[in-house]
Amino acid sequence: TVLVVDFGAQYAQLIARRVRECHVYSEIVPSTMPVEEMLAKKPKAIILSGGPSSVYAEGAPAVPVGLFETGVPTFGICYGFQAMAQTLGGEVARTGIAEYGGTELRVGMEGVLFSGLPAKQTVWMSHGDSVAAAPEGFTVTAATDETPVAAFEHPGKGLYGVQFHPEVLHSDHGQAVLKHFLDAAGCRPSWTMLNIVEDAVAAVQQQIGPEGRAICALSGGVDSAVAAAIVQRAIGDRLTCVFVDHGLLRKGEAEQVERDFVAVTGVKLRVVDAADRFLKALDGVTDPEEKRKIIGREFIRVFEDEQRAIMSEGPVDFLVQGTLYPDVVESGGGTGTANIKSHHNVGGLPEDLQFSLVEPLRTLFKDEVRRAGEELGLPAAMVWRQPFPGPGLGIRIIGSVTQDRLDILREADAIAREELSRAGLDREIWQCPVVLLADVRSVGVQGDGRTYGHPVVLRPVTSEDAMTADWARVPYDVLSRISTRITNEVREVNRVVVDVTSKPPGTIEWE
Ligand code: XMP
Repeated sequence: TVLVVDFGAQYAQLIARRVRECHVYSEIVPSTMPVEEMLAKKPKAIILSGGPSSVYAEGAPAVPVGLFETGVPTFGICYGFQAMAQTLGGEVARTGIAEYGGTELRVGMEGVLFSGLPAKQTVWMSHGDSVAAAPEGFTVTAATDETPVAAFEHPGKGLYGVQFHPEVLHSDHGQAVLKHFLDAAGCRPSWTMLNIVEDAVAAVQQQIGPEGRAICALSGGVDSAVAAAIVQRAIGDRLTCVFVDHGLLRKGEAEQVERDFVAVTGVKLRVVDAADRFLKALDGVTDPEEKRKIIGREFIRVFEDEQRAIMSEGPVDFLVQGTLYPDVVESGGGTGTANIKSHHNVGGLPEDLQFSLVEPLRTLFKDEVRRAGEELGLPAAMVWRQPFPGPGLGIRIIGSVTQDRLDILREADAIAREELSRAGLDREIWQCPVVLLADVRSVGVQGDGRTYGHPVVLRPVTSEDAMTADWARVPYDVLSRISTRITNEVREVNRVVVDVTSKPPGTIEWE
């Protein structure tokens, strides 16, 4: 076990994740945990995270008493580095100079941490105070223009530290630095995604207990699927999944959930065909927000009906959600979490239902969830599926939603997806909405005749997290194939255009 001592860092989970990437088990503990309790976990190594900007700040978290006397190899990062320096008799200065962002690090001595790494490398800094003098016996191994002591180590005592953030991707060799520490501490790489899945299953068993029952709304997306698969493994038939087919799904989607997901997991699934109900509710509606509200409302009604049906067979106390770590962070630590995905998940459930949330993916990142999904044997098409908004095709038809329009868009979308997959672009492109401009018509010519059809918009984007995005530079020949096929195969469409707007100013979806 590696303990990541959390000093209130934004990055503690990211550090834990990087340790997992080195195939070493890690656990986050609060900085208030007494050293004896930490030792009881038999840690092979300890990592001190970043934290508030100054060790001098009022209420700044202190290093647990006696930590550096335990003999457990310890690595201080940013605040943890400064706290280590200060505790061991070094000097931390309030230089008044802050360093933020990419900074050039000059390695004066490779030592343990920088062994075999370039003498100059870009690292990610985010600090106000600086270590002015290393504690006695420590070797200073690297510096930047503003920070004379940017890294130090005392291999004899197993103590190491860096001012920068090795855990963020902007630090060129951060992962190597972390690995060097773990190697020096004798941590063997034996931890795998399988362990992570098994741990998650055990934790869910613990939480739900031997009798408890749970319900999960499946969206067809990877997060809810993996969460459900984990819970199913933990409690079997005591989990019921509900999949609401609102008729705004893409081609083959409902079938995929029914067929592939159930086949692999054996989950108890209730599929509700609510297409008519949604179409009726959306009749004549063109305003995007109104559409979203209607879809959200109808979803909840259907889900509630299903819930009541299940409840009548006995109490259901737990609600499974595929919340990921970035969702937790974005909502400021968890309290608002349920709300983020309310529109297509569960928000608006009557308060007196009083579910406890089961969130087995809370500490994971999207790509880890995908790997967990693979570990659980979920089909690749599901694991690598592009994000799809809860309101579905309803917000990709610009204009009112009708069955005919849905059919047109579904065909065009299926062609675009097929060609992008065939070109091997699935993992490069974050997602590619296809949008039907249903109220726009343009003149075309096909087979010597005049056509008067609708345009569709291809909206391929690249993104890290959907907060920002850029339009994807899809090769012309791929675009060409998509365009030819859509105009040939979807009779009502006679024009294909590409959206080349980044986000901001555009959003990814058109509505
Ligand atoms: P925008 O359009 O805001 O989309 O740039 C960002 C990401 O969120 C997805 N999206 C939604 N997902 N329910 C969802 O679950 C929604 O109502 C919703 N609206 C947008 C969108 O597909 C993109 O990945």
